[in-house]
Amino acid sequence: MLKLKSLHHLCVEVPDLDTNTKFATDFGLLETARKDNRVYFRTYGADAYSYVAEPGAKTRLKSVAFLAESRAVLDDAVQQFGATPVRPLDGPGGGFAVSLTDPDGNIIDIVYGIEEREADPMLPAPQINTPDNVQRFNTRHVRPDDGPARPLRLGHIGLFVGNYARSEAWYAKTLGLIASDRMYAGVPNNYVGGFYRLDRGEEYVDHHVVGFFGMGAPGIHHFSFEVQGIEQQMVAHRHLQKANYQPVWGVGRHPLGSHVFDMWKDPNGLRFETFSDTDKYNAERAVFDQDVQKSEMDVWSNDSVERYFS
Ligand SMILES: [Fe+2]
Repeated sequence: MLKLKSLHHLCVEVPDLDTNTKFATDFGLLETARKDNRVYFRTYGADAYSYVAEPGAKTRLKSVAFLAESRAVLDDAVQQFGATPVRPLDGPGGGFAVSLTDPDGNIIDIVYGIEEREADPMLPAPQINTPDNVQRFNTRHVRPDDGPARPLRLGHIGLFVGNYARSEAWYAKTLGLIASDRMYAGVPNNYVGGFYRLDRGEEYVDHHVVGFFGMGAPGIHHFSFEVQGIEQQMVAHRHLQKANYQPVWGVGRHPLGSHVFDMWKDPNGLRFETFSDTDKYNAERAVFDQDVQKSEMDVWSNDSVERYFS
């Protein structure tokens, strides 16, 4: 398996680049470069860029990039898994990449050596008063600024997969992904959804870096950026609502992964999400399987799971 550090960025094609880039900006991403027809967006974190959009005939995922642990991982990808030869990247920060193809034809890039930027400072953490822990004395809650969220990094993607078992096997063998939670339909092992994390040994990582959904045509379901906290998501939700964008679901809390999420559709149909407060697992945590009939999408809502996929 390839030693990976994190998810790095994704590239999409959209029929209407102008509405996509306007949405990405209102969502909180920051345009950092334009090259040919490609628009690069960064977050407030250290990655040189996290989201790349370019015009195409239809809305689709063009590629997803994972950051390798070392330069040698790119050679491993070529020699052990048949990746394309190492090539230089021409986006901000340079670097190198190789490309793999997953069982559904998604291009999975392994990248290394992209120069990082200096991350913007985090906002001061809100002081929260609870009955057993008062933090604010003779002062009031500092109201967050109205406006977009401040995404910090690309954290995970959700993919519709054509053959669940085939995808699970490929991502485990090639990228070393570990199952955190899976859902089965009818009988155990008939998985229809699941969440997979990076194998970083003892290091604690997000509950998932990739989610699989075993229904619908293969392709991207959503992609998600970490933000600092729940209140920022609530304020950003209000900002997107005011701009009349299409909400999908949120602000809610997923039972699997425990993260607070807020998902919106851009005018091209791409689902953008923010998340905060996710569970962190290391490689020791055992997988938990459950019947999909018993699964819920949101701890705070009675809405049916279907809406998440609409
Ligand atoms: Fe998500």
